[in-house]
Amino acid sequence: MAFYDQDVGTLIDEQKLQTRVRELGEEITRDYQGKDLTLVCVLKGSAFFAMDLARYIDLPLTVEFLGVSSYQGGTESTGEVRITTDVSKPMAGKHLLVIEDIIDTGLTMSFLLENLRARHPASLKVCSLLEKPARARTQVQIDYKGFVIEDVFVVGYGLDYAERYRNLPFIGLMKGR
Ligand code: IMP
Ligand code: MG
Repeated sequence: MAFYDQDVGTLIDEQKLQTRVRELGEEITRDYQGKDLTLVCVLKGSAFFAMDLARYIDLPLTVEFLGVSSYQGGTESTGEVRITTDVSKPMAGKHLLVIEDIIDTGLTMSFLLENLRARHPASLKVCSLLEKPARARTQVQIDYKGFVIEDVFVVGYGLDYAERYRNLPFIGLMKGR
């Protein structure tokens, strides 16, 4: 019995998840042929997804990490975002693909896109494992999308509840929430 069995149910199992991540990797491989691709991994949530995805992309690429913290009012994002760790290299002229775990209200991603656009990349696209459209407060174009989910709180595969459960190999639902 695993430590999470009591409190977490399965929404997207490991096999379904890996199949979809592989498909996204193959799509990105086709689209970025001959381009200098940089994956911008948004910490901490997208790290698990980004590392799997990178292994499915059959291209030379670089990986950068961008740490952000979204101020929460309860469980709701306020849209006020702070960069806690910046990327290590100039982004000008690079083909940037921002990797996120989930786009919920869209406020975090809008902020990030505006911030990265100001650094004059050659191109700027978004890859998000999950999208929760029911809660969208601003329109964000997701160029590569893993799954669309209902308005439920999910954990696992990078996503946390109070910093826990990131290490589950599947997307789970908190029981009783
Ligand atoms: P947004 O600014 O509302 O789009 O917030 C995006 C961030 O909120 C994500 O990067 C997650 O860190 C967090 N988040 C949103 N929904 C969930 C969820 O269901 N589980 C865990 N974290 C979530
Ligand atoms: Mg996050």
